Formats: sequence, structure tokens, C-alpha cells
Amino acid sequence: MKILTTVKEVREYVKNQRMQGKTIGLVPTMGYLHEGHASLVKKSVAECDVTIVSIFVNPTQFAPNEDFEAYPRDLEHDVALLTECGADCVFHPEASEMYFADATTTIVPDVLSKNLCGKTRPIHFGGVCTVVGKLFNIVTPDKAFFGQKDAQQLAIIKRMVRDLNFGVEIIGCPIIREEDGLAKSSRNTYLNAEERKAALCLSEAVKIGMEMVEKGEKSTKVILSAMIEHIKKEPLAKIDYVQAVDGSMQDVEEAEKDTLFAMAVYIGKTRLIDNFMV
Ligand code: PAF
Repeated sequence: MKILTTVKEVREYVKNQRMQGKTIGLVPTMGYLHEGHASLVKKSVAECDVTIVSIFVNPTQFAPNEDFEAYPRDLEHDVALLTECGADCVFHPEASEMYFADATTTIVPDVLSKNLCGKTRPIHFGGVCTVVGKLFNIVTPDKAFFGQKDAQQLAIIKRMVRDLNFGVEIIGCPIIREEDGLAKSSRNTYLNAEERKAALCLSEAVKIGMEMVEKGEKSTKVILSAMIEHIKKEPLAKIDYVQAVDGSMQDVEEAEKDTLFAMAVYIGKTRLIDNFMV
């Protein structure tokens, strides 16, 4: 598997693959890869001739009080996992390769980024869109793969691709969970043993919500109350939000097809997210 660090190298690599008539899949990541990422890579390997995985902890999507410095990194482990999954190339640039010091142009998503995570992380999705837009321009993939765990991110990227006419198909992939239900996340590594147990309140709340929907409950107020009540029983949990929204990330009163029930909950200092879609 190739490891490339510059934009020029990636462009040359992609040009070469294209000349051989190959299709390109991109899996953008921030590294510290787990089975959730592996599922995206395997899907890309199955659907595209060549799979490029970017590993870049993107500084512009972290606010100064967030965990950019602490964000876990382990390139050696990531490369081993990606080799196992059949990826063809890793793009692992320095921040100075991705961002010009005097850059003045960014991508700022509008309405979709104001609710849910955007309420407490107001600069986050601008950073995500800018780096993902840049990766699309550098790699020019046919398809790009994102996890449904970051449901708001997925919705925003799909809208960005449509609005700005990027020539890439966005593929959303299901949430991968630990055996006990906790959604896989690089941030799970921050949890101590007690917090790891407490973190189950998120996936349990998801299960409660899903079961209510399956039984025919339509009122999002009733469903959200049951989910919130369950999370509040956990002393280490502090709710950031638990909400039900439509495809434009606007709150809805009635659960229908594609309604997204999403939550962010602090377990100790660690902010975790989870969701389900009707
Ligand atoms: O989901 C992530 O890991 C990041 O937000 C992404 C899409 C790689 C952009 O930095």
C-alpha cells in the first residue's frame, strides 16, 4: 500500500490510475481507525477499483477548547489495518500541505449546520466542509464513503456536493457497534472503565427510541422524553442534545420515514454521539 504525503503525489497517483481506466473511492478519516472505518474501506474496495484513505486530523474543525491536540493518533496501527482491508493508498498530509497560511477561502454550510452538533460546535462543520471539499478536489474520487454515525456531517456533505456540483457520489454506511451496543468511535479511547459502562446509556436510549417507533409511536416528544429519561438515570452522563429532525436538520413533531433521532451526550469529559433513522 502506498503512503503519500503531498497533494502533487496524490494527483500523479490518481492520474496514473485514471489512465488505466480505474475508478477511485475515497474514505476521508482522521485516523486512529477502528472497525467502523474498516467497514467504509471494505465497501470502497468492493465498489471501486482503487481505494484511497486520507488520514488527517483536521485542525479547522476543532474549536480552541476542543480535543485537537489530544485526539488519538497511531499511524502504524492505521496502516496495518488498511493493508488488511485492501486499501491501495493512504494520503497522510501535514497541516501545512493542506492549508496555505494566508488562505482566505472556506466552505461554510448554512442551515443544516445550525442545529444539533452545530449549536455547541459552531465552527465544526465549516472546517469539515472545507477539508472534505479540498480532499474531493485533490483526489477527484468517483465515490466517497462516510459513516451514518456522524449523521449530520453526512447530510451536510451530501448537500454540499449537490449545491457545489462536486462530481462525486456520497455513500453513507451503517453505524458499527461494539458487542454491547456502544457505537464505535475513536473517542471511546478517552473513557475509563466506569465511563465505558456509563456510555452504554446512549445506545440503550437509541434502542428505546427505535422500539417505540417500531411499535407505532409517532410523537417525537413522547419518544425523546423516554430516551432523555433513560440517559438522565446515568449519573456520569450530561446531555448536550437529544433531538428528532428531518433531512434539513429541522426539528419535527412527528416521526416519519427518514426522521433522524440524534444525540450528543458527555460521559465525563468525553462527548459521544449516536443516532438512529426511522
Ligand atoms: O468524520 C471525520 O472523521 C472527519 O470529520 C472527516 C470527514 C474526515 C473530515 O475531517
